[in-house]
Amino acid sequence: MFKNYKIKKNIIYAGKVLHNLGLVAGFDGNISIKSGNTIFITGTMSYKGNLKNSDIVSVKIGEKLIIKGKKNPSSEFPMHKKSYEVRTDINAVIHAHPFYTVLLSVIEIRPNTNLTPEAFIFLKDIPVAPYKTPGSFELAESAKMLVNSNIVILEKHGVLAVGKDIYHALDIIEKTENIAKKTYYTLISGKYPKLFKDEEIMELNIIRNKLSGKLL
Ligand code: 13P
Repeated sequence: MFKNYKIKKNIIYAGKVLHNLGLVAGFDGNISIKSGNTIFITGTMSYKGNLKNSDIVSVKIGEKLIIKGKKNPSSEFPMHKKSYEVRTDINAVIHAHPFYTVLLSVIEIRPNTNLTPEAFIFLKDIPVAPYKTPGSFELAESAKMLVNSNIVILEKHGVLAVGKDIYHALDIIEKTENIAKKTYYTLISGKYPKLFKDEEIMELNIIRNKLSGKLL
């Protein structure tokens, strides 16, 4: 019981962070935490800035899904479920709509992870999944791209991020949006950005490799 209370508290916290940082608008996005064979997920059309316990639904995974809660689970539940199947090492999934990350995907530009050490070490090559209809089986299949990355950009839509806990998933979304914003402003400055030199990349790769077990 206490455990469920703590899980809901963490989902409510993540909703506030996403809303306050402009990583979702209004009802957009969805958040889940897995505990054993149960996925706790935001109900569909829940306002992320002020989630209540009653906005969170539990879905027990088995031969049949056992859904408990006052709302229907998020329409992106299949994408969350697929994420936990692809990445058995993670316990939290967030789908958000970060402004600059989505804007860059619309103009078919990838966030430039060669601009800062954090982006290079923690993000490097962020996969981009081609546009698919929200809530569809095809969109849920994009979760397969999480096999080598903790985040996937969903073209013209948002991001799908995973983490060992909710903070880890938030971290990866905040870092991605941060580098997308820097990429965007670099582009509109009209100046050529100073990229890492080969020897700097070598040193960053050493750090990245040391951390790799903890990154994925
Ligand atoms: P839900 O309100 O069903 O969670 O959907 C929001 C969303 O962002 C769909 O992609």
